[in-house]
Amino acid sequence: MNTAITPATSAPAVRPYQSYVYAYPHKTAYHALTDRPPLRALWADEPKDALSLYLHIPFCEVRCGFCNLFTRIGAPDGLTTAYLDALERQADAVSEAIGDGARFAAAAFGGGTPTFLEAAELERLCDIAEKRMGADLAAVPLSVEASPATATADRLAVLAARGTTRLSLGVQSFVDAEARSAVRPQRRADVEAALARIREAGIPVLNIDLIYGIDGQSEHSWLRSLDAALAWRPEELYLYPLYVRPLTGLGRKGAAESEAEWDARRLRLYRLGRDHLLGRGYEQVSMRMFRRADAPATGGEDHACQTDGMIGLGCGARSYTSGLHYSFDYAVDMREIRGIIDDYVSRPAADFARAEHGRAITGDEARRRHLLQSVLQAEGLDVAAYRARFAADPAGDFPEELSRFAARGWLDPAAGPGRLRLSAEGLAHSDALGPELFSPAVRAAMAAYEAK
Ligand SMILES: C[S@@+](CC[C@H](N)C(=O)[O-])C[C@H]1O[C@@H](n2cnc3c(N)ncnc32)[C@H](O)[C@@H]1O
Ligand code: SF4
Repeated sequence: MNTAITPATSAPAVRPYQSYVYAYPHKTAYHALTDRPPLRALWADEPKDALSLYLHIPFCEVRCGFCNLFTRIGAPDGLTTAYLDALERQADAVSEAIGDGARFAAAAFGGGTPTFLEAAELERLCDIAEKRMGADLAAVPLSVEASPATATADRLAVLAARGTTRLSLGVQSFVDAEARSAVRPQRRADVEAALARIREAGIPVLNIDLIYGIDGQSEHSWLRSLDAALAWRPEELYLYPLYVRPLTGLGRKGAAESEAEWDARRLRLYRLGRDHLLGRGYEQVSMRMFRRADAPATGGEDHACQTDGMIGLGCGARSYTSGLHYSFDYAVDMREIRGIIDDYVSRPAADFARAEHGRAITGDEARRRHLLQSVLQAEGLDVAAYRARFAADPAGDFPEELSRFAARGWLDPAAGPGRLRLSAEGLAHSDALGPELFSPAVRAAMAAYEAK
């Protein structure tokens, strides 16, 4: 056998767009909790003075070609009412289980499209957060996602009056041909009108979501979208690389470019977008997120604090204690959404007092989670904070991964010993670097889920 090793002429290129790590462990790594632990026991010894509250609304007017979020198109008569009824039952069961001491420091309505709900239904949603969960929406940051067609004046008025501090609008592209290509049916004139209504409503932080890497999108047209967004001086901008996911309407079968060319185009568009925003008074917070440097602080900036617990309500929501991340079974499976929502709305209150699916956050997973949550932020990881929490150094816990990242030029050598920070190239490769920090067990669970 010839064992001679051919010297590599160059290191193999790492594919930059592997997966968006917005939560670790990913919910596809959750499994059935056979003992269905009662929430009362799970929350008994948890710190509860700075919880986050998340309410999930799984409805949209359309199904965009790129989107695999947990949501259905439209709602037959009575379904949104039944869904709000179920949210009320869940809120009652959960707040009884966690007890009186719970204090919420932040709240968010996400989806789907929360503004699919009508104005009166949004009032009800806010009442659930306030009266049943005890969140003081007027006093804490409240973030709400919306689409242009559903950002109507009456809904925005309710949200503003109830204390919304951040409205995130999915625009994706200001170029109509690109919206069509991404199977996102909308017209620029309608997007502009929605932005005018949001500014009129006086919600302090406007976030605009844009996508790059759409078929037919050029550097020139990307800059046009960015400038159209900048004209509104949004306090925040999220620039998402396009992912074409299984089971979505967007096929790239007829794409004119190879995967490698598409990767290269997305990287070019990323760098162009980043530099454009940095040159126009924005700071980079993470690979996707940019914040206007002179935007007034609203208190929501520390939202993703490392140790805060989270309570999620709704059929696609997750909840976090320090030792367990959990959700319902149906938060995982994207394929039978309608049945899952129907099942959720028919559940009796008692069902909501237990965790059904989840994943334990052991010592090793807690360290990985801490590392991922910090290092994927532009400001990086504070080594002293890591040491204080785990009595260890990240370099000692993750020697192989960190030397690999350093060898690829992904770590910023100027950060100094007290901080672990990505270089500009490291940040650009966040979606490759993140998955390399998953534990073997989480990786295996995700692979098993994908293979189902
Ligand atoms: C919950 S959705 C947005 C809210 C609202 N439903 C809307 O579409 O206007 C969050 C954002 O994720 C981004 N997104 C979702 N799927 C994506 C994909 N496959 N590729 C790139 N970006 C994606 C989009 O920019 C989207 O606005
Ligand atoms: S992108 Fe937004 S509007 Fe489109 S299907 Fe996904 S959640 Fe719904």
